[in-house]
Amino acid sequence: MAEFAERYFASGRAVEDERDRLDRLAAFYAEPTQRWLERAVVFRPGMRIMEAGAGSGAMLAWFARKVGEGGDVLGLDIDLSHAGRAEPPVRLIEADLYAPPAEPERFDLVFARLVIEHLPDPARAIASLARWLRPGGVMALADLDCSVAAAADKQAAGADDFDAALDRVRSAMDRSGLVEAAFGARLPRLMQEAGLLDVREDRFERIVEGGSSWANFMAENNLIIGELLGEAETARRVAAFMRRPGFRFHDQALVRVTGRKG
Ligand SMILES: C[S@@+](CC[C@H](N)C(=O)[O-])C[C@H]1O[C@@H](n2cnc3c(N)ncnc32)[C@H](O)[C@@H]1O
Repeated sequence: MAEFAERYFASGRAVEDERDRLDRLAAFYAEPTQRWLERAVVFRPGMRIMEAGAGSGAMLAWFARKVGEGGDVLGLDIDLSHAGRAEPPVRLIEADLYAPPAEPERFDLVFARLVIEHLPDPARAIASLARWLRPGGVMALADLDCSVAAAADKQAAGADDFDAALDRVRSAMDRSGLVEAAFGARLPRLMQEAGLLDVREDRFERIVEGGSSWANFMAENNLIIGELLGEAETARRVAAFMRRPGFRFHDQALVRVTGRKG
C-alpha cells in the first residue's frame, strides 16, 4: 500500500468532482481559518503573502482584501486546474512546493492549509516553505488531527461500533501512507524542528450533529478514502452514523500553528 505515500489522495478523481469537494472544504473551513489568522497575524496594506497548495483559491481573495491593491498574493499549487482566474494583487503559479522557491525570502506570510499532511516528506516541505519567507516573516500551517474523532456520547446506540469502525479507517490510512490520521498533532514539533520561533498551536474542535451538511461531507470523504484503501464496507458503516440525525460525534480537529522565521 506504500504506493499512496507518493501521491495526493484525490489526484485520480474527476476534475469537476474534485473541484466541488475543494470548494466545499474551503467554505467549511473559511471562518475558523480567517478568525485564527486575524488573531495570529498583523495584516497591513502592501503585505506579501504566499499560499502553498491554494486549491480552489478561496483564501486568495480574502488575502487580497487584507493586503489591498499595493499588496502581493501568490497562490502556488502543483495543479492549478481548480483555482479559477486571478485578479491583481493575486498571482498564480503552478509548481511543486518542494522545488526551490522562485522568489526566495520575499513573503511576510506563508500559509498552507490541509496540504502538508498529504505530502510524503513534511519536514522537507516545511523547510522548503520557510525559504519563501523573509526573516521575521510568519508561517501559518493548518492540518488535521483525525485521532480525536469519536462518538460524543459513549452510551448512544452504536457508539462503540462507530468508534471501532473509525479506528479501522484510521489504521488503514496510517498503513497506506496516504494521510497520517493524527498528522496535525505533530505539526508544532515539525515547525520547531524546522527552526521556526515562537511556535503557537491553536485547535478548532467541535461536536457535530449527524446529518448536518458538514457531517454529510465527512461521510463522503470517508467513503472516498475507504474505497481507495480497501475498507469500503467499514467506511460505509462510519458514513451511515455520520448521516444519522441525532447521532453526535467529535469532529476531526483543525490544528492551526504559527511560527516566525528568525
Ligand atoms: C486538500 S487540498 C487543500 C486546498 C486548500 N489549501 C484548502 O484548504 O482548501 C490540497 C492541495 O494541495 C495541492 N498539492 C498537493 N501536493 C502539492 C505539492 N507537492 N506542491 C504544491 N501543491 C500541492 C493539491 O493540488 C491541492 O490543491
